[in-house]
Amino acid sequence: MTAESAALPVGATAQQVATHDAELDQLFGVDSPLGNAVGGFRPRKSQTEMAKAIANAIVNQNTLIAEAGTGTGKTFAYLVPSLLWGGKVIISTGTKNLQDQLFLRDIPTVRKALGAPVSVALLKGRANYVCHFHLERTLQNGRLTSRDDVGYLREISRFMKTTGSGDKAELSKVPETALVWNLVTSTRDTCMGAECQYYQDCFVMKARKEAQQADVVVVNHHLFFADVALKDTGVAELLPSANTIIFDEAHQLPETATLFFGDTISTSNVLELCRDVLAEGLSHARDGADWASVVSKVERAARDLRLTFPQDIVRLAVNQIAPSSPFFPALETLKDEMDGMIAVLQKQAERAETIEQCRVRGIEIATRLEAWNKPKGDVIIGQESVLWVEAFSSSLQLHQTPLSIAPIFNKQREGVPRTWIFTSATLAVKNDFNHYTAQMGLWDEAAQSWPSPFDYDSQGLLYVPTGLPQPNSLDYTDAVIDAALPVIEAAGGGAFLLCTTIRAVNRSAERLREEFERRKLPFPLMVQGEAGRTELLDRFRAAGNAVLIGSQSFWEGVDVRGDALSLVIIDKLPFSPPDDPVLAARIEALERKGMNGFMHHQLPAAIINLKQGAGRLIRDETDRGVLMICDPRLIAKPYGKRIWQSLPPFKRTRELDAVRTFFASTVDAVGDAE
Ligand SMILES: Nc1ncnc2c1ncn2[C@@H]1O[C@H](COP(=O)(O)OP(=O)(O)OP(=O)(O)O)[C@@H](O)[C@H]1O
Ligand SMILES: [Mg+2]
Repeated sequence: MTAESAALPVGATAQQVATHDAELDQLFGVDSPLGNAVGGFRPRKSQTEMAKAIANAIVNQNTLIAEAGTGTGKTFAYLVPSLLWGGKVIISTGTKNLQDQLFLRDIPTVRKALGAPVSVALLKGRANYVCHFHLERTLQNGRLTSRDDVGYLREISRFMKTTGSGDKAELSKVPETALVWNLVTSTRDTCMGAECQYYQDCFVMKARKEAQQADVVVVNHHLFFADVALKDTGVAELLPSANTIIFDEAHQLPETATLFFGDTISTSNVLELCRDVLAEGLSHARDGADWASVVSKVERAARDLRLTFPQDIVRLAVNQIAPSSPFFPALETLKDEMDGMIAVLQKQAERAETIEQCRVRGIEIATRLEAWNKPKGDVIIGQESVLWVEAFSSSLQLHQTPLSIAPIFNKQREGVPRTWIFTSATLAVKNDFNHYTAQMGLWDEAAQSWPSPFDYDSQGLLYVPTGLPQPNSLDYTDAVIDAALPVIEAAGGGAFLLCTTIRAVNRSAERLREEFERRKLPFPLMVQGEAGRTELLDRFRAAGNAVLIGSQSFWEGVDVRGDALSLVIIDKLPFSPPDDPVLAARIEALERKGMNGFMHHQLPAAIINLKQGAGRLIRDETDRGVLMICDPRLIAKPYGKRIWQSLPPFKRTRELDAVRTFFASTVDAVGDAE
């Protein structure tokens, strides 16, 4: 990659900047090749200015935090300068769907319009690529539990004969959540690496190699940070040669990074290991040990550990567990039994490579269990972390989560100078980037915000209904639906109902289905989970008058332009659940420093979430629509004002009639135009 990097200018002259600016003015102006390639394109000042700032950061190898409202067109604003001048570029985005959208739609559009001779690669996590070895093994002796899986396996097998990438996203016939995927993909633990007979054809290796060679690589935040922590996703090999790193949907980074800079070990990791030890022991060293008994002791200890918590799903910080709880001795027992199993594996390791592999896995799990057993507040990697447990129906996870990722992430950015761009619609709260920069350790970096190109005052209306009960009351969701129905009718469908919990999604779906039937309303109802996200959105766009009920995954990154979406209803202010042990520990840490945890952490986080949800509504200069926020706290609480002042400057009302008038005038406007 050195050829490309050497070509990059280090530090920019005023002359260079002026040339780039002029070029960008042209590219984002009327009658440009880019404009001609995008339907309904019109010059947007914010977009052009943001592209210039990014170009400037690129030539000076600076860091830039770039915020511009939802729907502004940030994607082109960073793609154009980075494809032209970025050298080797890594673009990381929030989800695999957005990765596909960039790789399949946005980058090809820009590359073609610019005539830029750059090669592009897509890199996802290992679990996205079908593994030849595991597929073969499953075809031969797979224990498939359902008839669906048998059919899916046949599809996958057929797919492998034609695919060039092995990416499961290309095979939409098999649902993303189908269990069979686990059987035909590898994990870091089960990959045979260079020992594998299919190594030459391996899709994971192929994707990583292509990423190495490409000028532009599209990854996602999970992959990026998983690699920083585990060095197993192929990103670490890319980093040294990258000149420009762009994080889109950058508001998600603190949470994603926290996930990976911490550590999680689950009793199911232990049980999986036991299964493999038994299988490998019996096939390669049957006479070496009483494998069934070696394994069953560990399995029992893992199950007993799970049973030290009640059957319900719980999340507890270590200091919330009574010192007398059976959990602590059960954890010790599990460690002892693991040590016993490791000793047996040690003795048999030379009989087979796969047994040695099990031994290494065993040691890793044991080390992590050991690390978890430190008292709260202990120092790991030089900083505070919280230890907490999460019990699921049949497994227990032990987490160790850093309270702040700032020092770790800051360290990541040290070393070779390169450009770092952090972009999103929601990084600042009322133009103050502190909440974000403090979390990310980007204290002294340049941050800039560009105004939205939309006229919210005339294009949008914020409606907060009256008379709703407290959000924690039992009949709250029913009250939301009662308030929403007349609004959905006035809008003629074309609505998102964004809920903060799955329970609310289900209850709303039940109620709306009944009510639509009873009132003979013709709106197609779509509910998250009924089909994949992309498919639901395609159906939603095509229907034009549908109502879609979704939770978190529909709050962000969704782009529905035009009349198909003219009403966004939000049930509650999206505060994180107060019983979250990491959140509780963070708040405690802030309060120890004399800050108010609610004002400094929970509120800004909820505002960012809310702005993302609201941002689905207006995506174009000609879009019109109503944002309905049902939560009475928006008006009643002292902090409510801070929240609605952070939203785009919608016209505001509490009257249903004003909403009806707004939609009636939309119809008129459309009528006039025709
Ligand atoms: N100058 C332009 N004129 C018209 N449409 C544009 C222009 N630039 C981008 N678009 C289109 O506007 C829509 C929004 O663009 P994009 O998805 O990049 O927004 P965004 O700023 O990333 O918003 P979000 O923060 O919600 O992701 C897309 O459909 C895109 O193709
Ligand atoms: Mg975007």
